[in-house]
Amino acid sequence: MLQGKKIVLGITGSIAAYKSCLIIRQLVKRGAEVQVVITPAGKEFITPITLSALTSKPVISEFFSQRDGTWHSHVDLGLWADAMLIAPATASTIGKMAHGVADNMLITTYLSMKAPVFIAPAMDLDMYAHPSTQQNLRTLQAYGNHIIEPGTGFLASKLEGKGRMEEPENIVAVLEDFFSQQTSMAGQKVLITAGPTYEKIDPVRFIGNYSSGKMGFALANECANRGAQVELVCGPVSSSMQTPHPNIHRTDVESAQEMYEACQRLFPSMKLAILCAAVADFTPVTVASEKMKRTGDEMVIRLKPNPDIAASLGEMKKEGQTLVGFALETNDEVSNAQAKLKKKNFDFIVLNSLNDAGAGFRTDTNKITIITSNGKTEYSLKPKSEVAKDIINQLEEVMGA
Ligand code: PMT
Repeated sequence: MLQGKKIVLGITGSIAAYKSCLIIRQLVKRGAEVQVVITPAGKEFITPITLSALTSKPVISEFFSQRDGTWHSHVDLGLWADAMLIAPATASTIGKMAHGVADNMLITTYLSMKAPVFIAPAMDLDMYAHPSTQQNLRTLQAYGNHIIEPGTGFLASKLEGKGRMEEPENIVAVLEDFFSQQTSMAGQKVLITAGPTYEKIDPVRFIGNYSSGKMGFALANECANRGAQVELVCGPVSSSMQTPHPNIHRTDVESAQEMYEACQRLFPSMKLAILCAAVADFTPVTVASEKMKRTGDEMVIRLKPNPDIAASLGEMKKEGQTLVGFALETNDEVSNAQAKLKKKNFDFIVLNSLNDAGAGFRTDTNKITIITSNGKTEYSLKPKSEVAKDIINQLEEVMGA
């Protein structure tokens, strides 16, 4: 799977820099071409001569070659690579990446990178556990980068043994897995709904919910990484929620009615749809044209039902199309989800419960149970990017069956 792949390997100033030699050897052994970009601090830990001997390429560190003054184009590197791996990645580099501080060749290359980026953090536990490092890692993950770590990932509640760089063979295995999955959804068209809907009351107020769009965006990224063409229909989400992957086409909507219309238009040409949005079931009967004033002690807002997007797609579903729904429950979780599975004609439903800490709205993690007509599978609490992988693996299984 790595045969012929072009990998930019970023090395930063960590004691784990020596392990990058092992990474290079394994990548080269599997037929990959490796171009090292090293930070000035990285060169204090490992010499460019060793690295260029292993890669058979000059190591890039400065914006200009010290030998003949030629300019090293970070833009060209960004276009050349099939993947960028930063291993080891120090807290300083992770911080600069998260904030776009382009003061060395490695960061400019990262900012120009068109290929997926993998980051293997390496630092001591205190630095790793610091809220700013954790926030930077979350930011980088939200930008669609892949964090490679030992154990269950940086969002795990236990920090024991954390910060240590993942072993070279496991890092290479993550890249291999990525490239083997990259084509598993090639050419498939996927509709994904994400985020909340806002139902207008008057020009300044709305009925909404706490959905951030994180779960839906993680699903969109995962499908796009596997080669699918994704139509992401999302309700109002924060401007930090970006979709840089070229396979993702995004339609922003506000209300359930707008989401319904976009889904009706898109679904007939889709292979599958995953409905992750938290759609308002009701909307005000009338929208006041001016800001409503406080009068009296009570106010009554009359509501009418919104279209049920999932149920309408369930009715439209043709042979060969797959429909996946979500259920966010607070009580009688499994039986409620089972009822929705049937009523909305889903092929399977992903249950998340507000009774599980770290699951559901706004969190970076989720804890799900996948329910099919044949049974259910429970998963542990994981980052939403990992949860998305579990869901898409199940989807590929259902579609291959
Ligand atoms: O966005 P995050 O902050 O990351 O949070 C993720 C999430 C909690 C929103 C997500 O994981 C989730 O559970 N989404 C579905 C929430 C929900 O509204 O569930 P529901 O049980 O009300 O709806 C069941 C299914 O029908 C869902 O697939 C929903 O998208 C769909 N639906 C519901 C109502 C409606 N009018 N139209 C719909 O399509």
